[in-house]
Order: sequence, then structure tokens, then C-alpha cells
Amino acid sequence: MIISMIVAYGKNWEIGLNNQMLWHISEDFKNFKQITSGHHILMGRKTFESIGKPLPNRTSLVLSNSGFEHEGVHTFNDVQEAFNFARKTAEEELFIIGGANIYKTLFPYVDKMYLSEVDFEGEADAFLEPIDFSTWDLVEQKDYEEITENGQVKSPAWKFKVWTKKD
Ligand SMILES: NC(=O)c1ccc[n+]([C@@H]2O[C@H](COP(=O)([O-])OP(=O)(O)OC[C@H]3O[C@@H](n4cnc5c(N)ncnc54)[C@H](OP(=O)(O)O)[C@@H]3O)[C@@H](O)[C@H]2O)c1
Repeated sequence: MIISMIVAYGKNWEIGLNNQMLWHISEDFKNFKQITSGHHILMGRKTFESIGKPLPNRTSLVLSNSGFEHEGVHTFNDVQEAFNFARKTAEEELFIIGGANIYKTLFPYVDKMYLSEVDFEGEADAFLEPIDFSTWDLVEQKDYEEITENGQVKSPAWKFKVWTKKD
């Protein structure tokens, strides 16, 4: 099983504010849904609470040390137990979907990254640790334009990139 992480971040590595996303990019959501569908997704308790419900067509694994429980999700207080749970079902690719705390703790385990680099700068209270790309190979890139409506930015420009860890 490979371990992947999927995240959208701004110019200063911003990923969230008040336990919410910082932008609404519908194409990025569609992309996220397509990439993660059929797979196990692993997240921190706060990210689960921000989403509010298990995402359809995916097996939700939540990390928590505070005894958190919710219908339709599997809770773990140990990362390896969460990984093993997915391995037992013959999962080929597990997705780490956030948030800041989980990306930081689990980064050493990540084999593949699906990154959305968003043309956004603004207030945030959750950040990704800066990534040193010298140990990663870029295997895919697609650039998306800004979308404006009545002169206002409706959806910022963003670049979707896939990276795999160098051997
Ligand atoms: N831009 C993006 O792509 C993206 C994606 C996801 C999330 N986000 C944003 O990220 C922010 C949330 O990030 P966050 O860092 O505050 O919270 P988080 O990482 O989602 O969750 C943190 C919680 O996870 C549990 N946890 C963490 N490490 C653990 C471990 N090793 N073992 C067991 N449990 C563990 C703890 O839960 P307990 O307190 O229950 O013990 C901890 O309080 C939000 O703003 C959200 O919108 C952004």
C-alpha cells in the first residue's frame, strides 16, 4: 500500500482558518473526489469535524486521542493501527487528507503528494510545513485559470501537481 497526501495550500503555505477552507474552487473539489473515491482517507479529528460527515464512497479513518466517535467512521489513536486497518482490506493507496497537525506528523510516511498550489494570500491559522521538493519528482502538472464573476474573483488560479518520492 502506498501512502499519499492530498492538500491545497496558498502562497504562504496557508491551508485553513477557523477550521474551514480558505477558498472555494469547485474544480479542485471535483478533483479531490475523483482521486480519493474508492479509497481509505485518513484525517485528524478537527478536519473530520470541519467536513462534518463521512464522505461518500470512501472509508473514513479519523485520528483522535480524546475518545472521539462518529457513526460511519473508524477512529484510531495510533497511526500504525490506522494504516494496518487499511492494509487488511488490500487497499493500494491510502490518502492523508489533513489537517495541519496530521500533515506534519505523517509527512515522513508519504510516498506520493497531490498538491493544489492556490494563488491566494491571506489570513490563516493552519499551515503546511514548507516542503523541500529536491527529494521529490514532479510527475504531473495542470494549470487552472482564475474565474471571475462581475469583476470579482470567484475562484483563484491554481496549479495541480503530483509528486512522487525519489528512490
Ligand atoms: N487546504 C486543505 O487541503 C486542507 C485539508 C484538510 C484540512 N484543512 C484545514 O486544516 C485545519 C485543521 O487542521 P488542525 O491541525 O487544526 O487539525 P487536524 O490535523 O485536522 O486534527 C488534529 C487532531 O487530530 C488528532 N490527532 C493528531 N495527531 C494524532 C495522533 N498522532 N494520534 C491520534 N490523534 C491525533 C487530535 O484529536 P483529539 O484532539 O481528538 O485528540 C488532534 O487534536 C482546518 O482549518 C481545515 O480547514 C485544510
